[in-house]
Amino acid sequence: MPVISTHDLDVILGSSRILHRVSLNIHEGETVAILGANGSGKSTLIRTIMGVIPPSGGTASVFGTNITHHSRVPWDRLGYVPQRVAAASGVPATALEVVRSGLLGPKALWADRGKKAKRAALEALSAVGLADRANEHVHVFSGGQSQRVLIARALVRHPDLLVLDEPLAGIDRDSREALAHTLAGLRDQGVTIVTVLHETGELTELIDHAIVLEDGHVVFDGPPGAPGAPGGDDPAHHHPDTDHVPHHAPVLRTETAR
Ligand SMILES: Nc1ncnc2c1ncn2[C@@H]1O[C@H](COP(=O)(O)OP(=O)(O)OP(=O)(O)O)[C@@H](O)[C@H]1O
Ligand SMILES: [Mg+2]
Repeated sequence: MPVISTHDLDVILGSSRILHRVSLNIHEGETVAILGANGSGKSTLIRTIMGVIPPSGGTASVFGTNITHHSRVPWDRLGYVPQRVAAASGVPATALEVVRSGLLGPKALWADRGKKAKRAALEALSAVGLADRANEHVHVFSGGQSQRVLIARALVRHPDLLVLDEPLAGIDRDSREALAHTLAGLRDQGVTIVTVLHETGELTELIDHAIVLEDGHVVFDGPPGAPGAPGGDDPAHHHPDTDHVPHHAPVLRTETAR
């Protein structure tokens, strides 16, 4: 049984159709990159799978549960880091507190009390290299540090499925490498990882399944090295207009100019 499965998923927002009959399967233990240009529908796809946006047609399931049957989705097995959210919400909170809040689920399966919760939160913070800043207020953190706090918040429940929307955006090279290391460790533990990426960058080595969206359509779904994969060298897929790859196209390689 796939961890995530969609079939003919359609999403309409306002008067525009954003996703067109998206069908995909993500299996246990895979590390999957969702790639595509700005506005191609990557976040919409993730948000729909996470149950934030209702589909207009088709089906989506997570751990075999149809996402429209919300109450039965096993949230305690999921960690989700949305795109561009601030760790600091205006309410003063330390990094430790933000991470501990990840133990509170819709079903309150985990009590945010006691030494156990604190230990779990500290462990998650050290996984993202911020254990020594646990007691600092997140509003003093940089963008990249805040993002790592949110990743720790997603990790604190030891999810079986970790979903990240653009985790490399706006963070420096050391942080990107630290994140790649953290994700490699999780993958080795069998965690299924789905990450939206603009460019695979530091995560290239980890990715074993790429899904590329273009205007809400899946235009590639397979191993990154397969013919037709973005950044691949398959002449059959070269098109006179696309031989010159536009700068915003997703590519499966590390940036070379640093
Ligand atoms: N709530 C909304 N109402 C109407 N249109 C929306 C809404 N949310 C997103 N869209 C549109 O859906 C399209 C896809 O947006 P989405 O955020 O999924 O793209 P993306 O691939 O994640 O892009 P980026 O790389 O910039 O994050 C865009 O054209 C966007 O304007
Ligand atoms: Mg997005």
